Amino acid sequence: MRSEDEAPESRHERLHTMERRGFLKTAGISAGLATLMGADSFRGIEAAVNDVSDLTPWQAARDEAFWSEVKQAFTVSRTLINLDNGYTCPQPRVVTEAVVRYIWEQEQGPYGSFVQKARDQVVTVKRSLARLIGSSPEEIAIVRNTTEALKTVLYGVPLGPGDEVLTTTHDYSSMVSALENRVKQEGIKLVQAPVPLPAQSMDDLEGIFERAITPKTRLILLSHITYTTGQVFPVRRICDLAHRHGIEVVVDGAHAVGQLDFNISDLDCDYYGTSLHKWLSAPKGTGLLYMKREHIEKIEPIYGVYTSRRFNARTSMRKYESVGTVSYAPYLAIGEAIAFHNAIGPKRKEERLRYLKNHWAERLGKHARINVYTPTASEMSCCIAGVGIEGIDPTGMRDYLWDEHQIRTSRGRYMGEDYSQQWVRITPNLYTTLSELDYFCEVMEDLANNGVPEPYASYRPDPRMLRR
Ligand SMILES: Cc1ncc(COP(=O)(O)O)c(C=O)c1O
Repeated sequence: MRSEDEAPESRHERLHTMERRGFLKTAGISAGLATLMGADSFRGIEAAVNDVSDLTPWQAARDEAFWSEVKQAFTVSRTLINLDNGYTCPQPRVVTEAVVRYIWEQEQGPYGSFVQKARDQVVTVKRSLARLIGSSPEEIAIVRNTTEALKTVLYGVPLGPGDEVLTTTHDYSSMVSALENRVKQEGIKLVQAPVPLPAQSMDDLEGIFERAITPKTRLILLSHITYTTGQVFPVRRICDLAHRHGIEVVVDGAHAVGQLDFNISDLDCDYYGTSLHKWLSAPKGTGLLYMKREHIEKIEPIYGVYTSRRFNARTSMRKYESVGTVSYAPYLAIGEAIAFHNAIGPKRKEERLRYLKNHWAERLGKHARINVYTPTASEMSCCIAGVGIEGIDPTGMRDYLWDEHQIRTSRGRYMGEDYSQQWVRITPNLYTTLSELDYFCEVMEDLANNGVPEPYASYRPDPRMLRR
């Protein structure tokens, strides 16, 4: 195919196109989506993936040369150490560039003409998203975050006085608040089963639901990965258990999509919500709601039923996307985030994230005064973990790490009246270096050996953080 007579520019273009096609094959995304993407951004990753293609994901997770290439794809500042990726994960450059590109396009002419085109493109993105999570495109809606996804379900499932909803003490407080509102307004009953800390086995975790189910339980809310300590729950087993009792299950997957490599259809849950701006590194303000087909008709959208000529307002997931005027740029750029994620390889990424957690957690876990609150068994955790030091208030620890060492963490919560279980949550990401984690470990060991200085030593537990 290649002709020696070609002008250098066109040879270059052809090479470029071939590389891009090669990448698309690796990434397994549709040609439709390809037209939405820039070509250059993945070249380094593609070459690096070739170098680790013979390795198992476990081996690739330990290949520093590969991850050093991946790190180059991010634009994060090295003037600080960000161990708070559980809040949101930074976008790789390719995603930021895409958002900017789409915004330029959006601002070129009448918004209506941009939206006409963008709606079709979002359908392509949605197909790609459905493939990523292993569902049908007809069972998902692109929403703004986990909060929107799950509150649609938690307020939408028909429940009456005395009906019980079962969740855990480690489920996200804002979801629990939604259920508490229904307790007040509709007389439902909310049961929060305590989570062992750390749990010894998946049997333990299934057991807490088995013991708490009653003949009145109608709905279970559980986290795929908890936001507190990063505990991974045996979702499939709990769904099977629930279904045997005729109970529906809604899964808070805020931290699972993009962190764990899994298919929603394998979980057999009834509802699933996630934030794509977390571990998928998609633009802020992007999320996903999944629902089994048979439930769509009965769950009303938060903003009420909407009639449309474009879709069936009773049975289409698109009813959950009708939230008024929004910017399509972040939604379109989900496509680039998926392509980036697929280019690295979801299983490779999961293993790397787990490896980063184990790198620091295994070292700190050996210290007599340091407690790691997350199990290390690979099926029970991935990237997120909680760590505490006896006698040091976690808010004081978090502020000390940030003020004195520019290490960003987030505060865990107190679990008992005696404040005996206290931690900060540590969430690295693909761009985190091992030396950054080593530095974090040194600071923590110093704190454990010598205590935290004033004013952090005078921090007292905040009763508002005390949870059931
Ligand atoms: C477990 C869990 N659920 C839900 C949410 C809410 O996510 P968002 O703010 O993206 O809606 C979070 C946020 O951190 C979370 O950790």
